[in-house]
Amino acid sequence: MILTPESIQLIREKAARYPRAKSAILPALTIAYRQVGHLSNEIYEEISEAIGVPALEVAEAATFYTMFPKQPTGKYLIQVCHNISCSLLGADSLIKYLEDKLDIKKGETTADNLFTLISVECLGSCATAPMMQINHDYYENLTPEKVDEILERLRKES
Ligand code: FES
Repeated sequence: MILTPESIQLIREKAARYPRAKSAILPALTIAYRQVGHLSNEIYEEISEAIGVPALEVAEAATFYTMFPKQPTGKYLIQVCHNISCSLLGADSLIKYLEDKLDIKKGETTADNLFTLISVECLGSCATAPMMQINHDYYENLTPEKVDEILERLRKES
């Protein structure tokens, strides 16, 4: 078992709130992601068992959403939005800046296993572009100086 009894219990409680268990797939994936840090076939099976929905349906939902990593990541998952508003306001430059700063390419993790960098579709914060999400927090109206401050703070907290 990958999911803790507490996570399974939480998933079952969420499922009980909906008329159809299928509606609890996203909350269940979120609970699993928050516990483990990424998703996998084993986790889809465990969610399937917990709420009585076919594992394939759980996997279909998980693979649709880029916000759920499917493999282990660094301690901090940096998701830079590359959709239209963020692109118009410098997302490509931001990604390049992060790649240079972290000495990795998009999709990679730093050697110290601290940062993983990916780009994602719109995170719903278009008015504060360019922006990125690191783990569960949004960082908006980004500039190279702000990125430096954020990375420095996260390094100190580690
Ligand atoms: S386009 Fe970047 S948050 Fe919407």
